[in-house]
Amino acid sequence: MSHQSLPTNTAAATTDFLPLEGTDYVEFYVGNAKQAAHYYQTAFGFQALAYAGPETGLKDRVSYAVRQNKLTFLLTTPLRSGNPIADHIYKHGDGVKALALRVPNARSAWEETTKRGAVSYMEPVIMEDENGKVVMSGIHTYGETIHLFIERNQYNGAFMPGFRPWSNPYFKPTDTGLLYVDHCVGNVGWNQMNKWVSFYQDVMGFRNILSFDDSDISTEYSALMSKVMSNGNGFVKFPINEPAEGKKKSQVEEYLDFYNGEGCQHVALATNDIVATVTELRKRGVEFLQVPTTYYDDLFERVGSIEEDIAPLKELGILVDRDDEGYLLQLFSKPVEDRPTLFFEIIQRKGAKSFGKGNFKALFEAIEREQEQRGNL
Ligand code: FE2
Repeated sequence: MSHQSLPTNTAAATTDFLPLEGTDYVEFYVGNAKQAAHYYQTAFGFQALAYAGPETGLKDRVSYAVRQNKLTFLLTTPLRSGNPIADHIYKHGDGVKALALRVPNARSAWEETTKRGAVSYMEPVIMEDENGKVVMSGIHTYGETIHLFIERNQYNGAFMPGFRPWSNPYFKPTDTGLLYVDHCVGNVGWNQMNKWVSFYQDVMGFRNILSFDDSDISTEYSALMSKVMSNGNGFVKFPINEPAEGKKKSQVEEYLDFYNGEGCQHVALATNDIVATVTELRKRGVEFLQVPTTYYDDLFERVGSIEEDIAPLKELGILVDRDDEGYLLQLFSKPVEDRPTLFFEIIQRKGAKSFGKGNFKALFEAIEREQEQRGNL
């Protein structure tokens, strides 16, 4: 068995050169931000938060921020063709542009990472309004994806300078219990995984806490390899996948084909009550991968006793896996745009710090059934 679990808290560097306080927001470049914002409110239970566009002085784009608990999504669309946002959407379709990380000092984050080899996306910029100041900087990561560093400890406004509060008194969907970003997975090209593992290690000070190779993660077709990178306090975790040779096309390869390059494969959203959350999401039209009901036949033999009743898990298609520290419940959506690219994971951790390796086979077989229907297997 090649699965390795490495301790997260040994040999911690005496000084963390890139202290991270968690995910600040995830920015999506989308073809129609107004409708995407409506989708995340209606289907996922986010609330309207802030808006920027021509009315606030932006000439080339519109952005809507929506929030649920500690989760903030920013949906950005270009107002004209022939600019980097429009080009991004033409090439990749809708997808994740920025994984924005909250830092105590955005200038130091930029200096420390670019000093170690990161390619700058944006030098530190100070943005101010009547609610205070935000400092932002950014670096490139895999594909055309970026990390923004957000320093907002001197800011009290709704989102950030340049945005105005946005709400609709007639439209307030109830939340679905989604709490925060658990992890974000990147799909990278053939033989590129170790390059990006080194990037997160050397440039951002992350550690490799788990590894999977194709002996762990291969069904008949959907082979891939994965390494999970975590920052020191474990608040930010980035698994990196690359395709592996299988009989037919790997799911990572299908993503790379349709995204036209490397990018964010899925964002995992945490909940404290996955049965309630998934019940709501399904009711509101979010589509999930379906494993065969036989998955539940030997569930207790595989994961031991759990607190949840099996009936709602089976009805909703929620998967369970156990590691040395506890168990987790998880479920994966179908892609949330027409290209078979970005999807979401819903996850509830009950002690487990791993990523559901025991579910990979059942899941990947479900993914392959979908790939086959798309003619991409
Ligand atoms: Fe995941």
